[in-house]
Amino acid sequence: MSKKRVLFVCLGNICRSPAAEAIFQNLVLKSKLEDQFECESAGTGDWHVGEKADPRMRKYCEERGYQLTTLARHFNPDTDFDRFDLIVTMDDSNFQNVQNLNKGDPSQVRKMCDFLMTRPEKFVPDPYHGGREGFEEVIDILEESCRGLLRFLEDEFNS
Ligand code: 4NP
Repeated sequence: MSKKRVLFVCLGNICRSPAAEAIFQNLVLKSKLEDQFECESAGTGDWHVGEKADPRMRKYCEERGYQLTTLARHFNPDTDFDRFDLIVTMDDSNFQNVQNLNKGDPSQVRKMCDFLMTRPEKFVPDPYHGGREGFEEVIDILEESCRGLLRFLEDEFNS
C-alpha cells in the first residue's frame, strides 16, 4: 500500500507549519507508522524561503522534544496538489489562498483545527508578532490536532 502524504501549510513556513510537521512526524515515529505516513510543510508567502524555522519556535518545540530541522519553502500549486493526499492549513487565510489555487477536489484541503478533539479553536493563531505564550498556545493546539489528524488518517488508511 502506498504512503499517505500530508502537507502542512501556513503563511511564512517558519512558525506554525514546521512545528506541525515536527509534531506530526514525532507522533508517527512514536506510533511506529512511518511506513504509512509522510509529511512536509510549506508557506503561502515566499519571504522566508530557505530560512530555518523561527528561533523562538525552534526553542519552545525543542523544550517539548521536537526538533525543527527543515528550511522554509513556498507552496507550489503545480506539484503539491499532486504530491500530497491532504493539505492541512493553519488559518482561514491560508485555507482560502490554497483553495483559490486548487483546480481539483476541495476536500483535499483542510483546516488543522478540524482535527481538534476537545479544544475550541477554529484556527491556529499566527504567533510571529507575539511573545512566548502565543508560541506555547500554538504548540498546544498542534499537539492535539496532530493526534486527531493521525486518527483520521489511520481510519482512512484502514478503510
Ligand atoms: P507562520 O508565521 O505563518 O506561522 O510561519 C509567520 C511568519 C512570518 C510572517 C508572518 C507569519 N511574516 O510576516 O514574515
